Amino acid sequence: DASDISKGTYDTFMLKEIDEQPAVMRKISSHYFDGKKINVDQKMLKDVADADRLYIVAAGTSYHAALVGKDIFENLADVPVDVELASEFGYHMPKLSKKPFFIFLSQSGETADSRQVLVKVNELGFHSLTMTNVPNSTLSREATYTMELLAGPEIAVASTKAYTANIAVEAVLAKAMGELKGVKAAQDLDLQGQLALAANAIQTIVDEKDKFKKIADDYLKGKNDAFYIGRGIDFALSLEAALKLKEISYIHSEGFAAGELKHGTISLIEKDTPVFAYINDGVGAAHTRGNIQEVAARGAHVLVIASKQYAEKGDQVIIPEINEMISPIVSVVPAQLIAYYASLARGNNVDQPRNLAKSVTVE
Ligand code: G6P
Repeated sequence: DASDISKGTYDTFMLKEIDEQPAVMRKISSHYFDGKKINVDQKMLKDVADADRLYIVAAGTSYHAALVGKDIFENLADVPVDVELASEFGYHMPKLSKKPFFIFLSQSGETADSRQVLVKVNELGFHSLTMTNVPNSTLSREATYTMELLAGPEIAVASTKAYTANIAVEAVLAKAMGELKGVKAAQDLDLQGQLALAANAIQTIVDEKDKFKKIADDYLKGKNDAFYIGRGIDFALSLEAALKLKEISYIHSEGFAAGELKHGTISLIEKDTPVFAYINDGVGAAHTRGNIQEVAARGAHVLVIASKQYAEKGDQVIIPEINEMISPIVSVVPAQLIAYYASLARGNNVDQPRNLAKSVTVE
């Protein structure tokens, strides 16, 4: 309804939508869980659990949610996952597995690049699921099944709450699939508990807005380039963090796998180049610390965003502890706020950045 799409007391939709994320997590939890029972279409569940490989197809921020989803589905549902950019996949379709199942992630459900893939998938006779924030959208109507993101209308062009909602909904489906298949990791995961933790953790971060405004000033004022780095789940997250920053601040920013820096990108590091390093991934933590030292030794201005269990003295941003697989739900929020304040400081139109559209209906 119309009251849902007013800015209320906010100056921008983006900040409002960032702040809504704890409520969205609670909504997803209460909608998709009924006690211990997971509320998903049982026909869909059997169909997707029967696949020998999932193909997740998306664009932009939804593609980044898909990269996070790969880990979640492979772990909880014990199925191999390919993540595909819609604009590439439709024209260069690889040899598919014997029993593929397609998952389309699309906040708007209208992205033409994703739709042209769905049209081909339908022609080939494969089944599909669209995860979308807009239930009657084109991609929802044309796919075999739909799961709603339940994020409420997202108006700011830079996507925030749809990304975190998408990761949560991927986790819901992966857990349901894993339980059906008897996968221990799925049975052991208290996803409702984790979503509640995520809601609280996001709240803690959004309650500290001044801190992120200051970080944006300290690290990004007058800067033309910035880097987000991380390994594993933090690499996927770094791509989204960098996208947020470039979309609305117009600062050239890139997300890199921390271990790849030394194979090329480190040549770009000069005195005071901002580098935001994520440490939520336990396996990669020690090596990322090494990469931080390498860039710091070359003069980079490093900010470490670490989850509590891997934090060290001197780390600037501490993320409350949460299951690593879904940790981007929480750890993306500092990047959203940093991008927001960097954009504001430059006098940009935060909600409607130049050259971008909320949904792109041309291929
Ligand atoms: C546009 C928007 C992005 C969005 C992408 C995919 O480019 O500006 O924010 O991530 O489309 O949109 P979708 O609605 O398919 O998730």
